[in-house]
Amino acid sequence: MGISCKDIDGGILFKLDTPNSTYMFRTADTDGFILHMYCGRRLSGTQVDDLCRIDEPPFLPSKNERERCSFMDCAPFEYPGHGLGDYRDDAFSVINKDGYFATSLSYRSHRIIKGKPGLKGLPATFGSEDECTTLEITAADDANGLEIILYYSVFEDCDALARSVKIRNIGPEGNDIKLTKVLSTCVEFYGGDYDTITLHGSWARERMMDREHLGLGRRSVSSLRGESSHQEHPFIALLDHDANEDHGDVYGFNFVYSGNFIAQAEKSQFDTVRVMLGINPVDFCWNLKPGEEFQAPEVISVYSGEGIGNMSRTFHDLYRKHLIRSKYRDCKRPILINNWEATYFDFDTDKLIAIARQASKLGIEMLVMDDGWFGHRNDDSNSLGDWFVNENKIKGGLKHLVEEVNKTGLKFGIWMEPEMISPDSELYRAHPDWAIRIPGRKPALSRAQLVLDLTRPEVVDHTFGQIEKILKSANIEYLKWDMNRQLTDLGSSMLGKEGQGELFHRYCLGVYELQERLVREFPDLLLENCSGGGARFDPGMLYYSPQIWTSDDMDPVMRLQIQQGTALMYPLSSMGAHVCDCPNHSTGRTTPFETRGYVALAGTFGYELDVTRIPEADRNMIPAQVAMYHSYNDLVRNGDYYRVASYQENHEWDCWEVVSKDRKEALVTIVNVLGRVNYKSRLVKLKGLDPEKTYSLRYYNIEKAGEDEEYLRLKGDALMYAGIKAAGNYHGDFRARLLHIREV
Ligand code: GLA
Repeated sequence: MGISCKDIDGGILFKLDTPNSTYMFRTADTDGFILHMYCGRRLSGTQVDDLCRIDEPPFLPSKNERERCSFMDCAPFEYPGHGLGDYRDDAFSVINKDGYFATSLSYRSHRIIKGKPGLKGLPATFGSEDECTTLEITAADDANGLEIILYYSVFEDCDALARSVKIRNIGPEGNDIKLTKVLSTCVEFYGGDYDTITLHGSWARERMMDREHLGLGRRSVSSLRGESSHQEHPFIALLDHDANEDHGDVYGFNFVYSGNFIAQAEKSQFDTVRVMLGINPVDFCWNLKPGEEFQAPEVISVYSGEGIGNMSRTFHDLYRKHLIRSKYRDCKRPILINNWEATYFDFDTDKLIAIARQASKLGIEMLVMDDGWFGHRNDDSNSLGDWFVNENKIKGGLKHLVEEVNKTGLKFGIWMEPEMISPDSELYRAHPDWAIRIPGRKPALSRAQLVLDLTRPEVVDHTFGQIEKILKSANIEYLKWDMNRQLTDLGSSMLGKEGQGELFHRYCLGVYELQERLVREFPDLLLENCSGGGARFDPGMLYYSPQIWTSDDMDPVMRLQIQQGTALMYPLSSMGAHVCDCPNHSTGRTTPFETRGYVALAGTFGYELDVTRIPEADRNMIPAQVAMYHSYNDLVRNGDYYRVASYQENHEWDCWEVVSKDRKEALVTIVNVLGRVNYKSRLVKLKGLDPEKTYSLRYYNIEKAGEDEEYLRLKGDALMYAGIKAAGNYHGDFRARLLHIREV
């Protein structure tokens, strides 16, 4: 395991090993090219020298200078430059002091560091000196006076690699460079028949999985919305065309960043595939003066030789152990009830206390007061930025409300949208220049609001002060941090003529600075990020909050797909999930209360309905759901997740399983979305069990608030290879069951 390097003919070979994967590249030729060699299943130490594929025609430039361009256009560059003969897409480009665009990379030195250095101002995975090793490659682009430093960190316990890039201006005075593109990773794959998986969506239907065969040319997803977005996701997987959930080679890439991105696979004329991820170069232009450096965020790449499912489990383990920092990461979260879909803006102290009293009797543990408690906000047209309590609604003030809620036995949480400013707000009237906008243009409103210019230090300070004041004014134990509009009208009065191309990235850095200050000053606060539902569900935000609101759509049928796509790389413990009201406010669909509970159990679990007004039969079921959560959440939070059947693919039913790390226990959720007339039971082949162990199977019985008697006892091999007849011929739609499996 770890990183090794050795001299090979005319260069150095770097071999990066994780438990089951190897990543290799080398330096070559007098130009010091850095060339990718291999990425995939682990290779033993000895056989790799013969892999030096670079000696094929058109040969290295030192042997065949007259055909340098042919070499450039097919060489597997680790970090391809621009404009010198490689016509595939590049990883970095500039406008240099004389106006030229070209870039190149020439190896200079390297060092191996124990552990993993942090990335200044940016979220990043972490690990101790025993858990990871980092390779730092320093390369030069002499013509531009730049140093390019490539970082590779390998994890001892996960088949994952973290890569990032730093660019330093080492030129003399006057060597003013504009960075116009700085991606964070590039991996070259030699020929093969590949598919890609990307995630797409919109508000209320985030992260739908999309698998496509990769043809010649580019397949790319991106965001220019100032956030990772509902629409596309900073993720791409390249996989064998015949790979499936359990078999085949899969390479997943996820960008640890919450702003504009591009993730792309490009198949070249020679059938090689170049996968790249990083900050979207559109509208990006960063001024780098002599002595300055630019740190690009990191990309996590995961290799799985056992299908898509294993890729997901590797991401989950990595994020649970090496990305999420909150003290709640490994804890059961309080079951919360959020008043948004219960009341929208129509609430006051009395209504909230009534909800809290009822919720407390049912076993719910925290009340979250959502949007509408501040300024003069009774709808979404005003007051963002005015973070003082509206005493007409919250009679007696926030402290009083929180005390009353605490008296019912519930904790208290609050909603804020700190990055925003309403034109109708005291803040805007005092500081109109604090909004992102272009002088002389009427800025586009979205949900009647504008975005605060977080590139300005005084705006960051002011915003932090507002949050701090509210959090310190009462016993507030949870914060839902929302972000309800995307960026437009890119203009900052602070950045000047030369600096507008820095705005998108600086905005993101401003958000990170705010959240970093927040988690440092309030280490006991449970933070849940949110963005109009799940528009900023990304690894960047997970660094600050252990959970993120997955989607405003809580309809359990939609959630099957949304949560499946989200769990492609994010652990179940991070997915905000609530039992919703019915008919569902997004889809209008009515589903059994029981099913809503089972689907929300695959996330953080909570409620978003008016518990004082729902049908009594539903209300009476809540204590049993609460008991269910307490019984199984440890397993759901910490276990290995397996997709067994996907409703999105089969249009009939869905099934997932969570298996404990010691394989002594598993929880299977089966959702029969559409009833099937006159069919036999479905066959469910379980996964991830120990073939040698004998297991006892019990259904959870919501009426009893506990498990039924054992209905089957079988060995793991039979459960996995022969399968069980389960959750059969349900009468009616949207029926679900929960099956608990335990070693006897
Ligand atoms: C966003 C969130 C919702 C709710 C509203 C309040 O849409 O995703 O959960 O908080 O804002 O305005």
